[in-house]
Amino acid sequence: MDTSVIKVEDLSHDQARAELARLAPVLAQADAAYYRHDAPEMSDADYDALKRRNAAIEARFPDLKRADSPSDTVGAAPSDGFAKVTHAVRMLSLGNAFTDEDVAEFDTRIRKYLGLADDAPLAYTAEPKIDGLSLSLRYENGQLVQAATRGDGETGENVTANARTIADIPATLIDAPDILEVRGEVYMAHDDFAALNARQSEAGQKTFANPRNAAAGSLRQLDATITATRPLRFFAYAWGETSAPLAQTQSDAIDRLQALGFQTNPLTQLCDGPQAMLEHYRGIEAQRATLGYDIDGVVYKVNDLALQARLGFRSTTPRWATAHKFPAELAWTRLEKIEIQVGRTGALSPVARLHPVTVGGVVVSNATLHNEDYIAGRDSKGNTIRDGKDIREGDWVQVYRAGDVIPKVADTDLAKRPDDAQPYQFPTTCPECGSDAIREEGDAVRRCTGGLICPAQAVEKLKHFVSRGAFDIEGLGAKQVEMFYHDPVLPIREPADIFTLRARDAANLARLKNRDGWGEKSAEKLFAAIDERRNIALNRVIFGLGIRHVGESASQLLAQNYHSWPAFEAAMTAAAVGEGAEWEQLLSIDGVGAVMATELVTVFHQDAERASIDRLVAQLNIQDVAARADIDSPVAGKTVVFTGTLEKMTRAEAKARAEALGAKVAGSVSAKTDLLIAGPGAGSKAKKAADLGIETIDEDAWLALIGDA
Ligand code: IVH
Repeated sequence: MDTSVIKVEDLSHDQARAELARLAPVLAQADAAYYRHDAPEMSDADYDALKRRNAAIEARFPDLKRADSPSDTVGAAPSDGFAKVTHAVRMLSLGNAFTDEDVAEFDTRIRKYLGLADDAPLAYTAEPKIDGLSLSLRYENGQLVQAATRGDGETGENVTANARTIADIPATLIDAPDILEVRGEVYMAHDDFAALNARQSEAGQKTFANPRNAAAGSLRQLDATITATRPLRFFAYAWGETSAPLAQTQSDAIDRLQALGFQTNPLTQLCDGPQAMLEHYRGIEAQRATLGYDIDGVVYKVNDLALQARLGFRSTTPRWATAHKFPAELAWTRLEKIEIQVGRTGALSPVARLHPVTVGGVVVSNATLHNEDYIAGRDSKGNTIRDGKDIREGDWVQVYRAGDVIPKVADTDLAKRPDDAQPYQFPTTCPECGSDAIREEGDAVRRCTGGLICPAQAVEKLKHFVSRGAFDIEGLGAKQVEMFYHDPVLPIREPADIFTLRARDAANLARLKNRDGWGEKSAEKLFAAIDERRNIALNRVIFGLGIRHVGESASQLLAQNYHSWPAFEAAMTAAAVGEGAEWEQLLSIDGVGAVMATELVTVFHQDAERASIDRLVAQLNIQDVAARADIDSPVAGKTVVFTGTLEKMTRAEAKARAEALGAKVAGSVSAKTDLLIAGPGAGSKAKKAADLGIETIDEDAWLALIGDA
């Protein structure tokens, strides 16, 4: 009998049981369609009615409530994803080593930085690099209060409810510091991964390409009850904020985490130098296939935590650790076609379209061919590579993939080359706009000269503009930008157009909200997200311009040096390549070289580019960036110069420490210098400082000033 037509109050006990059994999968399916696939199959009203009916029956017959009752589904997850969490201590990534020499150099670099002799003892831990995704767990007074993904390192996603479902993650800690952030890797074991995929395909759900994707997809579920059904595990290997030190060495800290109840990797070992590290690396590599979970290398960390603190960080990676990657994975397949992609700076990049092949668990159908010399069998200096073999369409090629690196075509098999294969002719005009594509002397890359008239360059520039480190506009990603670029009614052809979208839409009859895939709400949401970014920090604007060689950290440096848009813009306008005070000032920024400076100045002097920048800036309210004034230190914002011999630290360490405290370190004394730190043997710089009346102190006074004495 059809129980769905019977009123709740008229249902018999058996009918009620049957009706609850009917409703559970219907509501679960609706939930899945709504939350997980972003594709609702039922109107909100129908959904609510069914959910209310289910609750009413359960209220009448509490004994019939099912274990999988739809009433217990975890909250109405916000449809726009997870809440954001700002990490108390940034979550960084690791530098890489690929060869034995790289590992020796890692040790040499550290010794040099610390001023340690070659034979001074220096221990490292070595442990597997787990191929999962990192997670930061915050405990306050022994209670797990927050779990966050890495995100961009500064801000991650709040996945606390999900993390609570992982058995390896303790909910409470005994005898832990009041504040403790434990960091480590969420991963999925091979057996669990295979079983999950089998279950998924049986249920007609999507399967995962590899355990890492499965772990990421399972942790980042808006519905934590789904995470709970996924076999996730966690290894702890690091920490963020702590109210009291965990230990004095890395290995003791890991032991402490283990004592607190975390899983730590049993293959973690203390090594007395590169040789022992390499031995352990080989040992781990030999066991790789039998570990039961994916690893992609070995991580080395300086064991002494005081030395870790002295070594500190580069912009995104610690100096005291590195990841020694396992060699890349290889496979052979047919190269079906070579296509040219045009990038944001006009670079013509050849892409290999491949017959799909599995390389290390991932299906690869595209790979990079770098540039025209690479295809022809030469490196950028004209030396032969691959014994001079060129690569042709139709060739049987070797594809190579290392970790997250874009797969590349590494080699070709001449014995399998089709008889009619022709040498590849690299285009000399842009395939997108037909402009000449030229190669400047010394440049490995051929570039389209179309500039802003080239649609490919314009679209790529826009994609960069909306990307995470730049304007990061919610709901306006690469796909949408591409769509708007070609929109005949509301086109976005340059960044400024994004900010006039709302006004143009309002003035238009073919309103966005009436389009396929758009409603009143989604259109308003997009306009609001755009408006929110009108207030934007200077560094994001500089980065968003997408100028060649000007990356995220360079943009930050430039913003910290010029502070405001008017100052930056005036300096770029006044500067001339290779000469004058503005040029010198630009080059005096540590981290800005002549190549980057030339690009910057050139862009500001190109009429079309400049006009486009001006149109954008007119739409924005650009926030000044203080000279690290957020840092509470006596040297924040000061320009300091080191000269002579330093005895307590190396020059590199002194510079990094000063910068970490918000000072600018310059190479020469000028009227802008605030402080000279002079060690024994100081010469002309000390004299110049004296002439200019600049305060000069010795190394001890400097250490006392910054509180390191
Ligand atoms: S230490 C400050 N140890 O690798 C450095 N990371 O490529 C903190 N990873 O983001 C990281 N296993 O997700 C560390 N034993 C291990 C690791 C490990 C995997 C991941 C981690 C990190 C990424 C960097």
